[in-house]
Amino acid sequence: MNKYPVAVLGATGLVGQHFVRMLEGHPDFEIALLAGSERSTGRPYAAAVEWTAGGDLPSQAGKTTVQPASVEAVIASGARVVFSALPASAAGAAEDALQSRGLAVFTNASARRGDPDVPVVVPEINPDHLVRAARRKTNRGGFIAADSNCSTAGLALLLAPLRPFGIRSVAVTTFQAISGAGRRGLAAMDIAGNCVPFIRGEEEKLAREPGRIFGTLEADGFIPWPVPVRASCCRVPVREGHLLSVSVEFEGAVGEDAAAEALASFRGLPQEMGLPSAPERPVIVRTEDNRPQPALDVWAGSPARARGMAVTAGRLRSRGRILDLFGLVHNTVRGAAGACLLTAELAARQGLLHE
Ligand SMILES: NC(=O)c1ccc[n+]([C@@H]2O[C@H](COP(=O)([O-])OP(=O)(O)OC[C@H]3O[C@@H](n4cnc5c(N)ncnc54)[C@H](OP(=O)(O)O)[C@@H]3O)[C@@H](O)[C@H]2O)c1
Repeated sequence: MNKYPVAVLGATGLVGQHFVRMLEGHPDFEIALLAGSERSTGRPYAAAVEWTAGGDLPSQAGKTTVQPASVEAVIASGARVVFSALPASAAGAAEDALQSRGLAVFTNASARRGDPDVPVVVPEINPDHLVRAARRKTNRGGFIAADSNCSTAGLALLLAPLRPFGIRSVAVTTFQAISGAGRRGLAAMDIAGNCVPFIRGEEEKLAREPGRIFGTLEADGFIPWPVPVRASCCRVPVREGHLLSVSVEFEGAVGEDAAAEALASFRGLPQEMGLPSAPERPVIVRTEDNRPQPALDVWAGSPARARGMAVTAGRLRSRGRILDLFGLVHNTVRGAAGACLLTAELAARQGLLHE
């Protein structure tokens, strides 16, 4: 199969680097363009990037000259697919313009997540939303598919297996890694040895996005999942991995064993289709007293291409209709680049990327 040429916008950032890492040797996609801001444009990628994605910087990508994140540069590169890791402030206009030129845009940015015709996709949960958006492209040129907020990605994968028990309400408290704020997001002075109980916009996203992900698409519009989600978010001095303390209220009593079994046996379309970045088990349940931990569990997921793509659950405690548990999600992989890549793999293998 010919590979789809792809452009990575924001390729020098924390999320962009994971795209570059995960695209090396990818069976469906090959890099046609790496784009950054004016700071990086014209420099070799290896010189422009401060590599933090682990392992060696892929050598071919390192020699590539960073281009501007403009429509002209993307079109000139021959890319048919765009992975966007731009800041929200720059993403909206760029993604709109690329979509209108017929490109398929998979974005991490929140700029278009609220748009009624942009699906917020967690591939194991709502692949039908992607199909609907992609099929509409005949009228609109291309399409934009967003991934969810990084903490929401973890929360949604914990809730999806538990939905058959009947969820009434959800409360979540997050302990979020520094990398969630981007390469230059936080001064060491503010976070070293400290916790900050506020992350702008994050609680709102956690409250709102499950409604989009678990909602239904009808011919006349989108019907959100009606379950209320309350969120409290805290930044902690951890490098990678958002830890979530989740409390789920059900319609009836749910035991720990039944919940653990539902979480551990959960599978979605990406697993059925054997997509390259799909973790064999999307949710891994740990039974130790002190797991999950960012330091030990952030790279959960197998095979090798799916490292960091599994959410880890643990500390399940049931009290009648309430189940408390912890979850851990790799914020820049499962919560960002890996999620977009898995969505694009789904689109490619369902024939949604063809002209
Ligand atoms: N970090 C996370 O855990 C996470 C999780 C989910 C979603 N996201 C979202 O993903 C996006 C990227 O996040 P990040 O953490 O990777 O941020 P980051 O480390 O700050 O990287 C930002 C990237 O965008 C480029 N850029 C900045 N301003 C630009 C402009 N005006 N025009 C073109 N390119 C520009 C930067 O290029 P230069 O390096 O050349 O300046 C860099 O490549 C954001 O929308 C963020 O909200 C992040």
